Amino acid sequence: MANIIGGITTSHIPAIANAMANGLEETPYWKPFFDGYPPVRDWLNEKKPDVIILFYNDHGLEFFIDKKPTFAIGVADEYHNADEGWGIPTIPPVTGESELSWHIANSLVEDGFDMTICQEMKVDHGLTVPLNLMWPGYNYGHVKVIPVCINCEQHPMPQPKRTFALGQAIGRAVASFDEDLNVVVFGTGGMSHQLDGERAGIINRKFDIECLDKLVTDPEDLTKYSNLDLVEIAGAQGVELNMLLAMRGTLIGQVKELHRNYHAPISNTGSGLMLLEHTMPEK
Ligand code: DHB
Ligand code: FE
Repeated sequence: MANIIGGITTSHIPAIANAMANGLEETPYWKPFFDGYPPVRDWLNEKKPDVIILFYNDHGLEFFIDKKPTFAIGVADEYHNADEGWGIPTIPPVTGESELSWHIANSLVEDGFDMTICQEMKVDHGLTVPLNLMWPGYNYGHVKVIPVCINCEQHPMPQPKRTFALGQAIGRAVASFDEDLNVVVFGTGGMSHQLDGERAGIINRKFDIECLDKLVTDPEDLTKYSNLDLVEIAGAQGVELNMLLAMRGTLIGQVKELHRNYHAPISNTGSGLMLLEHTMPEK
């Protein structure tokens, strides 16, 4: 049986890639952010997951606002990145896990989630920044990655209730895959943030920390929010919380918090790094 051994929340902002490319990790601005990561890297290096299922939102590289799948999943053997205009280095190809991807895609459609299934897919900073953060120097070649993309750019967007349910359905799909694979799920994105408009730069620390607490103890409670609630409470891009919620949905067994680092602001966002250990339910 494939086994989800943990879940991780992390920021994905492009400025992180620039800070890493320019060796700024120890500067006063970045240190409190990067200091959170070694325990998570150590855990990943110890556990050596075979597969990462990675929830992110595509900010316009593969899906522009003219065509926006609500939910998309990659089923390719390899994914490429391209210049997105943030000045960040383009990263080497990411290895896919086609067999498990197809299993999850089939299972999701059976389960009522009408996924866009991508046999080719360019992946943007939402996916590449977290991978390089966990395995600096682009040393992620040994892990296979399944991208799952959630629309957080163009209304109408899937509601928190639905993204949490998507995560749960992926958790069940993984549990029904026969091969013995260890899987870790990443939920990437900002917590509170807004990139433009009158409220640009808004950060709601109290809400972010409450969300991190709830993601551990009572994630279902977060599904009471609508996306418009999130926009109001946590900024226009606060809807990226949906990715963290989808990740938590996949953890259908027992969860234990192993590590956390909240830091704000980093660029325009609140950054919530959290490592959750997961034990699958008994069959
Ligand atoms: C920033 C935040 C994002 O979520 C993103 O996708 C790009 C940039 C920022 O705060 O700079
Ligand atoms: Fe983003």
